[in-house]
Amino acid sequence: MKIISVVNQKGGCGKTTLAVNLAAALSRVGKETLIIDLDPQAHATFSLGYWKKSSERKTAYDIFRSHIDGGQTPFAELVIADRQKMSFVPANMLLSSAEINLGGVDGAAAILFHALADPFFAKYDYVIIDSPPSFGFLTLNSMYAADMLLVPIDLSYFSFNSVNSVYRVAGLLNRETGRSPDIFFMMNIYDQRSNFAKILEREAREKLGQYLLSSRVRSSVRLREAAKLGKTIFEHDPKCSASLDFYNLTSEILGLDESELDTAVREFVLHAPKAGSVHVLGDFNGWKKGEASRLAQFENGDWSIHFNLKKGRHRYKYFIDGKWMPDPANPRTEANIFGSQDSILTV
Ligand SMILES: Nc1ncnc2c1ncn2[C@@H]1O[C@H](COP(=O)(O)OP(=O)(O)O)[C@@H](O)[C@H]1O
Ligand SMILES: [Mg+2]
Repeated sequence: MKIISVVNQKGGCGKTTLAVNLAAALSRVGKETLIIDLDPQAHATFSLGYWKKSSERKTAYDIFRSHIDGGQTPFAELVIADRQKMSFVPANMLLSSAEINLGGVDGAAAILFHALADPFFAKYDYVIIDSPPSFGFLTLNSMYAADMLLVPIDLSYFSFNSVNSVYRVAGLLNRETGRSPDIFFMMNIYDQRSNFAKILEREAREKLGQYLLSSRVRSSVRLREAAKLGKTIFEHDPKCSASLDFYNLTSEILGLDESELDTAVREFVLHAPKAGSVHVLGDFNGWKKGEASRLAQFENGDWSIHFNLKKGRHRYKYFIDGKWMPDPANPRTEANIFGSQDSILTV
């Protein structure tokens, strides 16, 4: 079983559309697929044509309820299996109360992870989780459970900030739990005629390398219609461009399981509460200072950035308010030709 969580703290970038139609495409190529709606707004549930009152049946909330009232979760009762090879666990507003009641509880981010380890779920080849547009308790559960994070980026509003935040939260989760899902980005609402989209795509590819999937989902009114009608794109219009895009995306995602990646993402974190601007420069970015080398500042005084590095040995250094400094968190240094020290990192 492979668990793919669709995340991005930005609303409207296409998480639900991606979760629902990726699940649908996986089921069409013969994979037994389960989609879990983890958003209290229940958009995935509606997109799958389920409009019944939430009080009438069990929902994703029941996965968390047992942690509040101590009971067992009846997994089989959560699942609606009204399509071939594609089932789903619906959501409703109650999920937001899980966010409130369990937010601070120890180990609460691992509830979904442990639930999915139950033998009941072993029959699924893929579990796709649709997450809410925030980095709260529910998204943390979604990320903790995941083998892979899939981040749709809306190229019409693309900013590196949302990319950095995903890496940042994944980094924190990794330090807390040791989990390290692969993180892939997908361009959604892609307008191939727009020059702007092409420029943004180039920038995104420079930053993300092979972690930016080559398949894109183009802008298509059919996707909006399908969601409104409670249908997947294949049920609504199997021959439209969006259906083709989702098939291509699915083949690429299936292929990832077989290919070996020759790069890895590394986070650079520097604690410098008083600094005004911090860059990391190294052989991996040609020692070139610019927007792409600038670290993002966080409230606790940390600065952070992520790079997709080729496997092998790298030299780098921080550039803080105009002054060079080796990485204080990295004991490995080596002299450079300028008579000072560079930090050395092996990926
Ligand atoms: N490729 C696309 N082309 C056109 N409309 C899209 C596309 N992807 C998503 N949408 C529409 O954009 C809106 C937001 O998408 P949604 O998947 O609900 O985003 P999120 O779950 O991230 O909030 C929905 O109305 C959806 O139908
Ligand atoms: Mg959504």
